[in-house]
Amino acid sequence: MAANQPTPPSTATLSSQFPAPSSSTPPSAPSNPLASLLSPAGSPSSPPLPPPPPASGGSHSILPFDTLFTNPVFAGGLGLASLGAAAAFGRRAFIRGGELLKRQLLVNVEISKRDPSYEWVLQWLAQPRDNSGFLAQRITRLRNLSVATTTSRPTNGVYAADEGRATHASFHVQPGFGKHIVRHQPGVYIAVDRQKASTAQTVTGEPHETLTLTLLWMHRHAIEDIFTQAHELAQSFQQGKTVIYTTRNMNWTVLGKPRLKRPLGSVILDEGIAEHILKDAQEFIKAQEWYTERGVPYRRGYLLYGPPGTGKTSFIQALAGELDYSVAMINLSETGMTDDLLAHLMTQLPERSILLLEDVDAALVNRRERAPDGYTGRTVTASGLLNALDGLAAGEDRIAFLTTNHIDRLDPALIRPGRVDVTVRIGEATRYQAAKMWDRYYGDMDVDHSGRERFLKRLHELGLFGGDEKDPAVPKRHTSTAAIQGLFQFNKGDMEGAIKMAEGLIPRTYEPEAPSPEGAIKSPA
Ligand SMILES: Nc1ncnc2c1ncn2[C@@H]1O[C@H](COP(=O)(O)OP(=O)(O)OP(=O)(O)O)[C@@H](O)[C@H]1O
Ligand SMILES: [Mg+2]
Repeated sequence: MAANQPTPPSTATLSSQFPAPSSSTPPSAPSNPLASLLSPAGSPSSPPLPPPPPASGGSHSILPFDTLFTNPVFAGGLGLASLGAAAAFGRRAFIRGGELLKRQLLVNVEISKRDPSYEWVLQWLAQPRDNSGFLAQRITRLRNLSVATTTSRPTNGVYAADEGRATHASFHVQPGFGKHIVRHQPGVYIAVDRQKASTAQTVTGEPHETLTLTLLWMHRHAIEDIFTQAHELAQSFQQGKTVIYTTRNMNWTVLGKPRLKRPLGSVILDEGIAEHILKDAQEFIKAQEWYTERGVPYRRGYLLYGPPGTGKTSFIQALAGELDYSVAMINLSETGMTDDLLAHLMTQLPERSILLLEDVDAALVNRRERAPDGYTGRTVTASGLLNALDGLAAGEDRIAFLTTNHIDRLDPALIRPGRVDVTVRIGEATRYQAAKMWDRYYGDMDVDHSGRERFLKRLHELGLFGGDEKDPAVPKRHTSTAAIQGLFQFNKGDMEGAIKMAEGLIPRTYEPEAPSPEGAIKSPA
């Protein structure tokens, strides 16, 4: 009977099934005490083996799994773990599926802040729009807004805008950072995501920004619409205005807000000069194809030189307005302006703009005059300027205007054709200019021109038109159109006052050595 059979210890049973090899005593050695246990069943010396475990049935496992599985705590834990794994898998599958669906059903347009359309689209998004209707009322709303302020100071010159001393300010509300939903047309919605990245531009330190517009795939055709409308809107803000670009942080930026175009007729140059330059520029603009066909770089350079206050800058601004161009000005004397930066700016010149380089002589002369500490702060060299104008870095398509009060100080290489094609002297006020300016200010009250004749006669007597060849008693002098403008502005609507004060047009010379008048404030030398 089984009950009477001797039951070997369970350890012995396990040892017999998985004998551990021993290095000192090989298992086959007859002296091994385990050998008797390993010998086939039925041999006279072997003790009876226990009955073999059932092949299947699980209730009698040699490992205690059955006990584990029958343990309610373990089984419960295992159940929970599998549920968790299934949930995680399901979630991942859901996200993947969602992404796939999104990719199939939605279309994203990402606009970087560095792209010109970034500002246009922001402006366009902030436009008031029809949000009537159940859905539109609930989901469309710009909740975070940001303000973009532009300031300007009204003067006549190109440098009118100056953020430091602003007297005019205008505010544009834009969508702020974050997510918004905007209705474009009935049934067409745009999800807008404006984000500031944690990375920044290496030079300026300004963080990168992106604007992402998401639309349903079936509404993808609206994208073109959006950009066209945004561009038209930006253009409408500039209608009848001249945009002035300047350089900041190694890039072009708009200086203040666009200012009203200055009529070309308001800048009175000597007979035929304005018309000549305008015609030349218009012909150049029309001749792009001619240049391209012949492989000639499509560039034109103008140099306006002459004494101060003769209308050089004002004329360039008015010409830009007439041609419907912007003005992109570079101050070569600016601290930090280098040859490399200049070359970089040339490649990024804003479209449809006149490049304006003022006082080109000053930038290059001062370069040679080192400060006592040996540093001038100006590092634009003559060759840097020449390269910027027609070297490899020079833009393929540009109109450049250079101005100077001292043409004699310029490097002759700067004035050679290709860099400067048209050189014009804008000189002191002539009789023709004084008459034209008089008509602009007093034309409506001086119908018979008698006032104008008296004024011109007075200027002649004062020798302000360069003297009188026939009368050596008349001094040889000149005055500037800026001075005449000042006189007329002071005597607004008062012709007689202007004639009486004409003597004030005689240029004053200030001698540094002249003794200071009585009571003048003297600064230490
Ligand atoms: N020919 C002109 N017709 C009308 N206004 C003029 C003329 N010349 C000068 N002015 C007026 O005088 C002021 C100075 O002119 P502007 O700055 O254009 O002179 P500029 O020749 O550029 O002088 P600078 O050489 O010192 O830069 C402006 O307000 C401008 O309106
Ligand atoms: Mg000027």
